[in-house]
Amino acid sequence: MDKEEIRQHVLETANRRYATKKYDPQRHISPEDWHTILEVGRLSPSSFGYEPWKFILINSPQVKKGIRPFAWGAANSLDGADKLLLILARTDVTYDSDYVRHLVADVKHHQYSPESKPSQAFKHFQEDDLGIRNDQELFEWASKQTYIAMANMMTAAAELGIDSCPIEGFNYAQMNNYLSKRRVIDLQHWRVSVMVSFGYRDQPIKPKVRQPLMAIYEELN
Ligand SMILES: Cc1cc2nc3c(=O)[nH]c(=O)nc-3n(C[C@H](O)[C@H](O)[C@H](O)COP(=O)(O)O)c2cc1C
Repeated sequence: MDKEEIRQHVLETANRRYATKKYDPQRHISPEDWHTILEVGRLSPSSFGYEPWKFILINSPQVKKGIRPFAWGAANSLDGADKLLLILARTDVTYDSDYVRHLVADVKHHQYSPESKPSQAFKHFQEDDLGIRNDQELFEWASKQTYIAMANMMTAAAELGIDSCPIEGFNYAQMNNYLSKRRVIDLQHWRVSVMVSFGYRDQPIKPKVRQPLMAIYEELN
């Protein structure tokens, strides 16, 4: 592919991805494609590289039935998507947490101490630059990052000819309670960030409706 073909391909993928409202329940994603989509999520960027996420594939028919009453935005996905992925965000990513110690020492193989320069820089970044003051703000900072992974996964899926739908149309308190009661999530460390479904559409893709670029883009010289 020459450069112009690559550009066209990139835009075709962006147009091909759309929030799928009707899935074909008969079609299934191959294990290889699914693994590729998950890898793209895993490889996504995160603040300080602290990967504040977990991806849970919901196969359980009971859980799907249980969340339906308060997951209105997932109705179309529950009815036919091959995969329903719950994305959790961590609630405990602070400079002195066990999780950050684990990430730094066991995953990145760096020396860890809460008093070290990098740990103190991270503390300063969260508390002074971002102004994170409470658990909710800490969760929201982590949650924002999970949306990057979700977007990357949806784009990768579109590349593979797989459709998707981002889902935040559900009651968050009820979802967290339901999943915690069933011991799917430990609310001390996790909360639901967003969901996303994947599968194959059973409807034509509508042309994109968007504001023109000039309405949303400026250059400051
Ligand atoms: C963060 C986020 C949450 C969304 N939640 C839902 C949802 O719960 N249910 C749904 O059917 N679509 C949902 N959507 C899809 C949007 O409605 C859709 O992306 C938008 O209308 C643009 O259409 P397109 O994605 O097909 O181009 C969501 C999109 C985003 C980015």
